[in-house]
Amino acid sequence: MKAPIARFAPSEMSSRQIRKTIDAFANSASLAQLAGYDGVEIMGSEGYLINQFLCKRTNMRYDEWGGSYKKRMRFPVEIVKSIRKAVGEEFIIIFRLSMLDLVEQGSTFEDVVELAQALEEAGVTIINTGIGWHEARVPTIATQVPRGAFTWVTEKVKPYVKVPIVTCNRINTPEEAERILSSGQADMVSMARPFLADPAFVNKAAEEKSHLINTCIGCNQACLDNVFKGKAASCLVNPLACRETELVVDTTPTPKSIAVVGAGPAGLACATTLAERGHRVDLIERNDRIGGQFRLAMQIPGKEEFRETIRYFANRIDETGVNLLLDTEADFEQLKEYDHVVLATGVTPRKVDIEGIDNAEKVVDYQTLIKEKTPVGSKVAIVGAGGIGVDVASMITEPKRIHLRIGCKSGVSIKRWSNRVACSHSQIQWLIRKFGYCKDAKVEWVKAQGKQQVGFINERLKSAA
Ligand SMILES: Cc1cc2nc3c(=O)[nH]c(=O)nc-3n(C[C@H](O)[C@H](O)[C@H](O)COP(=O)(O)O)c2cc1C
Ligand code: SF4
Repeated sequence: MKAPIARFAPSEMSSRQIRKTIDAFANSASLAQLAGYDGVEIMGSEGYLINQFLCKRTNMRYDEWGGSYKKRMRFPVEIVKSIRKAVGEEFIIIFRLSMLDLVEQGSTFEDVVELAQALEEAGVTIINTGIGWHEARVPTIATQVPRGAFTWVTEKVKPYVKVPIVTCNRINTPEEAERILSSGQADMVSMARPFLADPAFVNKAAEEKSHLINTCIGCNQACLDNVFKGKAASCLVNPLACRETELVVDTTPTPKSIAVVGAGPAGLACATTLAERGHRVDLIERNDRIGGQFRLAMQIPGKEEFRETIRYFANRIDETGVNLLLDTEADFEQLKEYDHVVLATGVTPRKVDIEGIDNAEKVVDYQTLIKEKTPVGSKVAIVGAGGIGVDVASMITEPKRIHLRIGCKSGVSIKRWSNRVACSHSQIQWLIRKFGYCKDAKVEWVKAQGKQQVGFINERLKSAA
C-alpha cells in the first residue's frame, strides 16, 4: 500500500528483516550512548514504520507481527526491550507514541493506552505524544491550529501511565507552555519549530524576556515545505536557522550610517540586523506603523499568529537602537546623506493584461480587498492560485458568523445541549483555551453549510458534566 506522500509502494518485511531492524534500533541507541548522548527518542508516530505496524490500515500481516493488536504492537515493544538491554538502566528512552492517528483504521484510545502500558513495562523512561500521520487530512501543526490544541490528547492518556508524559504541537510561547504544565495536563512540553524561529527561546524565557522571542508563526513555509522538497530546513521568520555557519552576524569594525526604506518584514530584519552589527540605522516608513504587507497577511482568517512577528520586531527596534521614522516619505535629498541605502519597499500587485481589467466596479487587487474589506459578489474569479490567491479565497469565503457548537459529548454525538453563538477564529481560540482543561475537549474540522471549512469544538463542560 503506497502512502500518498511516498514515492514507492513498500514491500512486506520478512521475519528476518524485522529482527534485523530491531537490532538496528538497539545498535543506533548504543552508538548514541557511545557518542555521549543521555538518551534517544524512538519515532513511533506520524505514520512511519512503527506506526505502520500498529495500525490495521497498514499492517496486513497474519504472522506473529500482525493480526491482533497484541501482535501488531509487538514490533515497538521488542524495539524498546532490545534498546533497554543494550544501553542499561540509566539511559533515557523516549517513545513518541501516536496518540491520535487521524487516519482511517488508526489506533483506538484503548489501543493507545495498552501500548503505553506495554512500553512502560518494556523500559521506556518517558512517553512523548505524536499527533496525526503525515497523510492526515486534519491540520495538526498549521498556523490555523490553535495553540496547544492537542494537549487534551496527552492529558487523556496521562492517568494510565506512571512515567512522565510529554505534550506537543503548536506550543510556541513560554506562557502557553507554562499554562499547560501548571494545569497538570502534561509533565513536559516539547517544541520543535519554535527553536528554529528563535534558538535563544529558552534563555529568553528564563530571563523573563519573552517579549523578545521571535515566535514561530506555524507557517511551515521554510521548515517543513523545504524538507519535503529535499532542501535544508530553515525558517521564514529567522533565515539564519540552519545556516548559522554561513550567515554569521558579527560586529562591524567600520560602522556606517544606513537608511533602510520600508518597514515590512524584510526592512525590519535588515534594519535590526545592521543595528545589531553596530551600524547607525534609520528605518524609514511612509505608513504610520511597521509591518508592511505582513499586516495584510495577519488579517487572513487563521493567520493571526503573523501578528507575533510584528510584535517581535517592534521590540527588536527598541533593543537594537534602530531610529524608526514613521509617516516619512523617503526622497533623494534625504537619502543622499547616508553611506548606504537599502530599499525594502515590498511588492505591488502586478496588473494583468485582460480586457475589461480597469472596470473599477468589478475588479479589485488583493491589497485593496484585504485592507478595505471591499464587498464582493457571490460569484468571484481570483486570478492567480498562489499563496495570496488561496488566502484571498479563504478570506472571502469565511462566514461572517461561524456557528460554534459547544456541547456535552458522549461518544461521537453531541447530546445534552448545544449553544449557537457567532464567533470569529480568535474567539474560537479563546474558547479552546478557556475550556481546554476539560477531558474530552476536541477540535474537529468539518464541512459546514456545504461549502465552508470551519472549526467546530465539542466540549464536555465542567459545569455541565
Ligand atoms: C522540519 C521538521 C522536521 C521534523 N522532523 C521530525 C522527525 O524527524 N521526527 C519527529 O518526531 N518529528 C518531526 N517533526 C515534527 C516535530 O517534532 C513536531 O511534532 C511538530 O513540528 C509540532 O511541534 P511544533 O509546533 O513545536 O513545531 C518535524 C518538524 C519539522 C518542522
Ligand atoms: S518557517 Fe519558521 S515560523 Fe514558519 S512554521 Fe517553520 S519554524 Fe515556524
